Amino acid sequence: MRNPQLNAQGELQHLLTTEGLPREILTAILDTAEPFTEVAEREVKKLPLLRGKSVFNLFFENSTRTRTTFEIAAKRLSADVINLNINTSSATKGESLLDTVDNLAAMQADMFVVRHASSGAPHLIAEHLANTGKDHIRVINAGDGRHAHPTQGLLDMYTIRHYKRDFTGLTVAIVGDVLHSRVARSQIHALTTLGVPEIRVIAPKTLLPSCVERLGVRVCYDIHEGLRGVDVVMMLRLQNERMQGALLASPQEYFKSFGLTPERMALAKPDAIVMHPGPMNRGVEIDSAVADGPHAVILPQVTFGIAVRMAVMSMLGGAK
Ligand code: NCD
Repeated sequence: MRNPQLNAQGELQHLLTTEGLPREILTAILDTAEPFTEVAEREVKKLPLLRGKSVFNLFFENSTRTRTTFEIAAKRLSADVINLNINTSSATKGESLLDTVDNLAAMQADMFVVRHASSGAPHLIAEHLANTGKDHIRVINAGDGRHAHPTQGLLDMYTIRHYKRDFTGLTVAIVGDVLHSRVARSQIHALTTLGVPEIRVIAPKTLLPSCVERLGVRVCYDIHEGLRGVDVVMMLRLQNERMQGALLASPQEYFKSFGLTPERMALAKPDAIVMHPGPMNRGVEIDSAVADGPHAVILPQVTFGIAVRMAVMSMLGGAK
């Protein structure tokens, strides 16, 4: 079956997941983002690449960083941005997701940026647009359930390449609540495709999906063993809002066993970087001394996120 994100020529049509995206496309997105970093850092003001296009931000779930950086990215490309506040929109009046989509399509939308609590919602929208003859409208997944968060995965790859240059000699550790994390899935697929030879996941058993090894990662239940000699540490938030039942004794216990402290960071390579997609829970998964310390690249990640989102939008918008 054809990858639903690619057209018959193998060009990116929608961005729904990093899973199955060829290395050339991942690299093309990172390369396209490179010159946009100057725009993200405001050294260059605006580019006309999406002038006249309408980007609809459809966030059915809360977000600060992701929604704002998508909005900034679209504006720096000169698009018109429409933010829908779903809490006060017709979704609360019982309108179905696809009826909402049909109505926005009738307003001549060019791109939907979608965040939804249900895994698969952006796929469903892309499929529906194809079935209704509206496949010129592009869909970008901004996080769906536990499934995928491809632009986060890509901005993380951009950050790693920025500091480490090459993927093929790296050891990368992903620490925390992999079970509930769409970010971890998008990271693992992208890291694997880009040729990272060793990916470790560090977590208690209760926070790992069953058969996680099938994704090509090495499982470590002990953070000391997991951090030894790593180049990159990717932290995950404890997603308490997605947990059903007690998977953990307490946040304090979790910090004791899996929290990233300066002592534990000393096990990594001296030039290792520490990343976090945000929002961060200080004192739960990460010690403030690490979050604000010399290894942290957490705030540059946010700025790179603008450049990467500009890259994705310009590649999709330009294909029309
Ligand atoms: C993540 C998300 O919403 O998936 N945050 C983000 O997009 N920056 C991770 C999280 O919520 O922990």
